Amino acid sequence: MWVGGTGAFLKRILEANPHLRGTLYDMPSVVENHVLGGLDGRVEVVAGSFFERLPSADLLILKAILHDWSDENCAVILARCREAMPPAGLMLIIDRLLQEPLDVTSLFYDLHMLVQIGGRERTAAEFSALFESAGLRLQRIITPTESPLFPLRLVEASL
Ligand SMILES: C[S@@+](CC[C@H](N)C(=O)[O-])C[C@H]1O[C@@H](n2cnc3c(N)ncnc32)[C@H](O)[C@@H]1O
Repeated sequence: MWVGGTGAFLKRILEANPHLRGTLYDMPSVVENHVLGGLDGRVEVVAGSFFERLPSADLLILKAILHDWSDENCAVILARCREAMPPAGLMLIIDRLLQEPLDVTSLFYDLHMLVQIGGRERTAAEFSALFESAGLRLQRIITPTESPLFPLRLVEASL
């Protein structure tokens, strides 16, 4: 399993699942502040850029990553993810999922990401097209989640 940030999310997953091992992967300046102490050697911390190379894992979790980037940049990130996935590997995207017809709140979130950092929020069809461009397939959308204030959804993809 592979997750980014400083590792708070990965830590919770590993604490709740003692049989799992995980890799924290993010930029050097981020992983140097990781919070992954006390996990008995079940975690590896790797620094790098997902535009270049990713550590291999049977589950890649990208939480609040793709909505930071344009379709063109996401295609590169997903291509690197695909290279890091074994044949039976899975990818879990955790992001907002725009519901059609789009309401004002959804449009606001989308516009906010565009103006702030050149990113965007996406519908299921847009995620599916992104995956296809990288040789991946949208398998399922896991919903609802218990995320009322910040409505994150889980989008699963495979080779
Ligand atoms: C919105 S944050 C999400 C962090 C974490 N996944 C979470 O949900 O809290 C986006 C993350 O992408 C990381 N990031 C940005 N560019 C990156 C790159 N080229 N390679 C790897 N990680 C990158 C940032 O350092 C940051 O931790």
